[in-house]
Amino acid sequence: MLRKNRFNNKKIIVGVSGGIAAYKIPHLVRLLKKEGAEVQILMTESAKNFVTPQTLSVLSERPVLINFFQNDLGEWNNHIDLGLWADAIVIAPAGANTLAKMTHGICDNLLLSVILSARCPIWVAPAMDLDMWEHASTQENVGTLQKRGIRLIEPTEGFLASGLEGKGRMAEPEAIFNTLVHDLLPPDNYFSGKKVLVTAGGTRESIDPVRFIGNHSSGKMGFAIAEALIACGAEVSLVYGSVSEKLPKNCIHYPVVSAEEMLETCKGLFADCSILMMVAAVADYQVQTISSQKIKKTDAAFALELVKTPDILTLLSGNKAPHQICIGFALETENEQANALAKLKNKNLDCIVLNSLNNPNVGFGKESHEVDVFCKNGNTWSIPAQHKSTLAETLINTLSVWLLK
Ligand code: CTP
Repeated sequence: MLRKNRFNNKKIIVGVSGGIAAYKIPHLVRLLKKEGAEVQILMTESAKNFVTPQTLSVLSERPVLINFFQNDLGEWNNHIDLGLWADAIVIAPAGANTLAKMTHGICDNLLLSVILSARCPIWVAPAMDLDMWEHASTQENVGTLQKRGIRLIEPTEGFLASGLEGKGRMAEPEAIFNTLVHDLLPPDNYFSGKKVLVTAGGTRESIDPVRFIGNHSSGKMGFAIAEALIACGAEVSLVYGSVSEKLPKNCIHYPVVSAEEMLETCKGLFADCSILMMVAAVADYQVQTISSQKIKKTDAAFALELVKTPDILTLLSGNKAPHQICIGFALETENEQANALAKLKNKNLDCIVLNSLNNPNVGFGKESHEVDVFCKNGNTWSIPAQHKSTLAETLINTLSVWLLK
């Protein structure tokens, strides 16, 4: 499975103030870089005593900024630009002095000035000796900063560099990293890592070696849903009938022709899946007996004897385990909502997506689509007409939020 870099495109300033815990910051930088973040290190002068700018510059792949001016070049490090550039600022370690200056708006170094200019969220990971941490002034300062929206990554208890034992150790780099993941990124998608069975396209029911009963389904919607699921990290098994679209990549393909074949293939896959999304347009009828030879035309009227195809969705959802989710796609031309709600109940579904054919600009074979969604717990929402790929993304994201509840 493709690994996603969770901090791709995220610009994170790591502000390092003076304190022995600064020696752990290279590890934090590595964690952030591994997830694709752009990391800009700002250091105070005293931080240089605990970790070298060279180490941090190599790991962050950017020059470390310490002063307003780069003396040799006469260049100015613009604190306003840096404050606006960042999506997040984490000050680690945040010493008592830096916390006190932040509280009072003192900006006598580049890091403090950037903090004052920033519009993004700011985290502080304090590190100091236990008595400094417990001191009323530090506690008041931290309280004031929190009231202003600065987020605290609590120091932990343990052995301190002074030889004393107590609270004041900077949170470990992993803990700081996890806090940023938790606070900065949207919650994990419900579908991530889940096995999902998606059906798409139309089935074809043979009449004779030449002719079939079929429908207009192009597979576009089912494929767009499969792609949206894959983008969320789902493992998709795609069972598809007749389609006129390019197959999605990064999923397992199961081509079928008839409803019977689709049923057999789905039966073999369903038990191992957490979610079924039955987007396929399954033919409702098949001929009683498929003619082995091409049926010749005659002058007489001609009738085909049709029998029902298996209702794949009902058969699968009728045997679903408690953890399995079944989602159907109803196609209606009249009494849309009532018919869709009846299918939700009769087919034992968790959710039904209603496709109406009443808007001529969307639907079968078109680029765009609109749907209404009804869930068994009474939740309902409408997704207005839009491109099928964005509609699929919206549908999957909304279902994810609903299912995570
Ligand atoms: N479905 C199925 N097997 C069938 C017919 C439909 O699995 N033989 C599934 C479709 O894939 C869809 C859902 O059932 O997810 C609703 O399909 P739809 O065509 O709207 O309804 P039908 O059950 O076929 O009923 P009707 O055609 O009478 O509206």
